[in-house]
Amino acid sequence: MLPTRKTAIPGAKSLLLAGELRRSENPNITFLDPERRFPVFWESASGSLVTDVDGNSYLDLTAAFGVMGVGHSNPRVVGAIQKQAAVLIHGMGDVHPSGLKVRLAEKIAEHSPGDLGYVIFGLNGGDAVEAALKSARLATGKPGVLAFRSGYHGLTMGALAVTERADFRTPFSGQVPQFGRHVPFCDPVSCSFSCKSCTRACLSFVESAFRDYGDTLGAVIVEPIQGRGGIVEPPPGYLPGLRDLCDRYGMLLIADEIFTGWGRTGDYFACDAEGVVPDILCMGKAMGGGFPISACAMRPDVAAAWGTSTGEAMHTSTFLGHPLACAASLAAIGEIESRDLPARAKTVGAYFKARLHELAARFPAHIAEVRGRGLMLGVRFHKREVALGLVYELLQRGLIVLPAGGGDVIELVPPLVIEHEQIDFAIKQITAALDALSV
Ligand SMILES: Cc1ncc(COP(=O)(O)O)c(C=O)c1O
Repeated sequence: MLPTRKTAIPGAKSLLLAGELRRSENPNITFLDPERRFPVFWESASGSLVTDVDGNSYLDLTAAFGVMGVGHSNPRVVGAIQKQAAVLIHGMGDVHPSGLKVRLAEKIAEHSPGDLGYVIFGLNGGDAVEAALKSARLATGKPGVLAFRSGYHGLTMGALAVTERADFRTPFSGQVPQFGRHVPFCDPVSCSFSCKSCTRACLSFVESAFRDYGDTLGAVIVEPIQGRGGIVEPPPGYLPGLRDLCDRYGMLLIADEIFTGWGRTGDYFACDAEGVVPDILCMGKAMGGGFPISACAMRPDVAAAWGTSTGEAMHTSTFLGHPLACAASLAAIGEIESRDLPARAKTVGAYFKARLHELAARFPAHIAEVRGRGLMLGVRFHKREVALGLVYELLQRGLIVLPAGGGDVIELVPPLVIEHEQIDFAIKQITAALDALSV
């Protein structure tokens, strides 16, 4: 199935809703373009296609923030939610939970690397990161956490302490906790050593931080591929090197696989590609098939540092282990397993990447680089204005895309069920948009 256009984009109904939202939602939340090019309001979605309130459909190359790995309105997920909704919507997560929480905890342990057999559930990625940061504090006795520049771990207060971006932190200075330390990530493009593929120099930043702040640092948090930072994939050897350094200096390794996890990069978890086993693993986004749920999985000794509840959980929330979310997540994981979506991400991703390389060869004046793996791909442009302009232009052409990094990257992270003909359609539209720029 390919997108079809029925009206101007945005259509009259989207524009009306945008006007109404302006009067009722905090103006800092939804971006309502003053030139009225953005947003379109969604009404329905199926597979990789989204239909707006005016009847226009689009190819979703964002998987709606990387969530819809199994595709929008996946029938198995929809069926599981409907079935569960008829019998039990809400339980008492940490007091009288539903049996689904047990099944899901087991499923996560089955797919997580190593012996990360104990989970704390949450509702979104930020929750999983908060649980990871607290777990590291309890297990190491040290509050400090090393994180990477241009990394993204969420916007709750603890997560903000390790998310380095000034635009998110500065307005809340005085409130954001100060336990995070930051070093450069191993980005072959911005590498200060210009060595392109060596990892030793970048790892030396980490080692220096361990030496300088070792008294207070207990853990490192890393995205195996930085997502919002611009699809930045470190060279092979970097993650194993990081694991090795953590072992040598007695630090816990927290892998934030909220974006990369559950098949997106071609493996269940991106760490699997190099056999790296973190001590704590954060997951969210795709695991719920569209339903809000996340988890922080940890080793038995890390879990033991929490002690055993004697009646009051130290870290919980009203909706923890929500039955509908657990049912949706079990169905989504069932779908990932039965259709082997990680393998699909690998092969379809290789096709998409090859087609993007053709595009880069055709438009060297615009495209600086194609990067990423599986269906976590990014195209970096020489000029930020070109990338940002394309976000609007491609919407007109039936493609939903998002910028990443400093705005110079377009991230391409579609549902893992995207079809070859849909990828071809995307390439055709991007080509036409760049052709129009070039004349
Ligand atoms: C790697 C990573 N960690 C954490 C988060 C935060 O997740 P959420 O927005 O669900 O709180 C995100 C969101 O994009 C992410 O990409």
